Amino acid sequence: MNVLGIETSCDETAVAVVADGRRVLANLVSSQVRLHRPYGGVVPEIAARQHLQSLAGLTAEALERSGLAWGDLHAVAASYGPGLASALLIGLSAAKALALRLNVPFVGINHMEAHLYSPFLSATAPEFGAVCPLIALLVSGGHTCLVRAEGLGQYRLLGRTLDDAAGEAFDKGAKLLGLDYPGGPVIDRLARAGDAACVAFPRARSLKAADAGGLDPSLCFSFSGLKTALRNYLAAHPAPDARARRDLAAAYQEAIVDALARGVERALPRERARALVVAGGVSLNSRLRRRMRDLVAARDVVLLMPDPAFGGDNAAMVAGLAGMGRGVRGPRAPALDACPNLEFGR
Ligand code: KG4
Ligand code: ZN
Repeated sequence: MNVLGIETSCDETAVAVVADGRRVLANLVSSQVRLHRPYGGVVPEIAARQHLQSLAGLTAEALERSGLAWGDLHAVAASYGPGLASALLIGLSAAKALALRLNVPFVGINHMEAHLYSPFLSATAPEFGAVCPLIALLVSGGHTCLVRAEGLGQYRLLGRTLDDAAGEAFDKGAKLLGLDYPGGPVIDRLARAGDAACVAFPRARSLKAADAGGLDPSLCFSFSGLKTALRNYLAAHPAPDARARRDLAAAYQEAIVDALARGVERALPRERARALVVAGGVSLNSRLRRRMRDLVAARDVVLLMPDPAFGGDNAAMVAGLAGMGRGVRGPRAPALDACPNLEFGR
């Protein structure tokens, strides 16, 4: 089962070819960061236009690198949400057109489910079902949630952010500190030489049940107060020098990682989880990775995090998940629309 996957939900144009849901034959990602950097964030129209320009060439190159011919493909998959509407539409339309031309099925994939699946692309990873029930902490630029998985396709949302996503908190904090976009990797790098104890940034302690939309508020997150605390600190202590910036980056990062770790610590025993998945762009954060390793070391829990090549947005996770039989397929698939607010686990 060879699947070609396409991912255009945000600012990476990505195409991959995956065999049998696991063997990655090609994985190409064309980042648009350079184009969006002057604006300090992703501009949807620029993203969509760039996807349109890159996609055909990237698709041909991915196929070539996979060593397969067009006729060897058994399906074409694409993320159909959540994400930016205009950006999603490019990959979705291209995938449908290609599937039609090749006379193979088109499969629509939920981008967050694909992130959840990303650690299982590694040849050494266990079978999904073998480590269930599991808890997944999905942390990306647009979404942050805790999900319980009983098996592939059997999910229950446990908690989510009530305001900013973890990646968004990193990016907005970096902007306040005058750092480059995207801020997550920059804060990560600076924080390594910083003193996280220099400022005690707030941790959202008691989220209200009324705000949690039926979820357990103790498994939900909130990062907007943290961003405000950094803004207030910078108003009182303007123009931080290089050393102060490193310390602030470390303290700010610690507050985000702390909040995420606390949710995981609560959920693991409560859900009797056998494994913990941490995935999405923020799973590349070195401090978060360390904290998650420490957290499972004291417990009988398997930790699964994506290989760095599959941590950020990529199409291997999309093609892989489709190869496992997941996604919208069959007669409904050709009419599938882009779903910018597609839910996961509800
Ligand atoms: O999953 P992803 O690539 O795209 C979305 O689906 O949103 O996540 C992108 C997010 C950005 O906010 C970026 O700043 C963050 O992941 N990120 C990081 C790191 N690398 C990427 N955040 C913290 N530390 C990192 N090393
Ligand atoms: Zn993503």
